[in-house]
Amino acid sequence: MTSPTTTTEPADAAAAPAYDGAPGPRLVCRGLAGGRGSNAVFRDVDLTVGAGEVLALLGPNGAGKSTLLLTLAGLLRAQSGDVAVDGEPLRPGRATAANRAGIVLVPDNRALFTGLTVEENLRVAAPRRGPKPRSMLETFPDLEKRWRVPAGALSGGEQQMLALARALVQRPRVLLVDELSMGLAPLIVESLFAAISRIASGHGCAVVIVEQHVGLALQAADHAAVLNRGRIVLRDQAAELATHPDRLEAAYLGTLPQPDLTPEQA
Ligand SMILES: Nc1ncnc2c1ncn2[C@@H]1O[C@H](COP(=O)(O)OP(=O)(O)OP(=O)(O)O)[C@@H](O)[C@H]1O
Ligand SMILES: [Mg+2]
Repeated sequence: MTSPTTTTEPADAAAAPAYDGAPGPRLVCRGLAGGRGSNAVFRDVDLTVGAGEVLALLGPNGAGKSTLLLTLAGLLRAQSGDVAVDGEPLRPGRATAANRAGIVLVPDNRALFTGLTVEENLRVAAPRRGPKPRSMLETFPDLEKRWRVPAGALSGGEQQMLALARALVQRPRVLLVDELSMGLAPLIVESLFAAISRIASGHGCAVVIVEQHVGLALQAADHAAVLNRGRIVLRDQAAELATHPDRLEAAYLGTLPQPDLTPEQA
């Protein structure tokens, strides 16, 4: 059995929160820097994601995307900077505080309990007086026929659905998903992106997805930011970037001219 790196959200209402139209952004980080030990992996990261919005966090291998998500989730301590959810600042490096504030991470290894069934994985994650595990079937109907199957016996796509469902049952305000489509067939990837859109718009979540499949990520996202060598080198509306692959390419290569470095565009 693998040990999940996600943490459970001890929320207590019976249903997932509806989009509440809160005026401020749901997730804000300012001047965030972090890394492993004293090694800086990313710095000066400013991100803003509203309720119901999806941000695609893109960038080449080793840019620091996973480290940034782990830091936002409180699993790594930030070296400097602030993170706030709905205007409430989080205590740095406290996974339980981040989770209590509604930040839930789906890590790139999915971190399921492979010996437990689908139902059991959801039951373990569901907060007291939270949504019933079976209510996750509304968003992930394909899991019904696998309900009593151990997570380790599921296909990769089914495992990713379960990982998302396990995040959703925790009633996230901020959902961080690392490598949504890694190793999965195109059809299942499409349905996972559709689920991400439903989670954002239907549950009022601020969603950050790290994704190597740039085209699909830009279709699903409202905004996109490119991290390169630990710095945000480009950010814009996803639709705008989808029509300017040259800017994206330059951001990946690290050759983007300075005028694109405008944090306020996020
Ligand atoms: N467990 C670790 N211990 C030490 N350094 C690490 C660890 N994990 C990652 N790093 C380093 O941190 C830097 C950023 O890695 P990170 O995994 O955050 O990048 P990434 O953008 O998620 O890359 P990828 O697209 O390959 O997943 C890299 O230089 C990497 O070698
Ligand atoms: Mg990564």
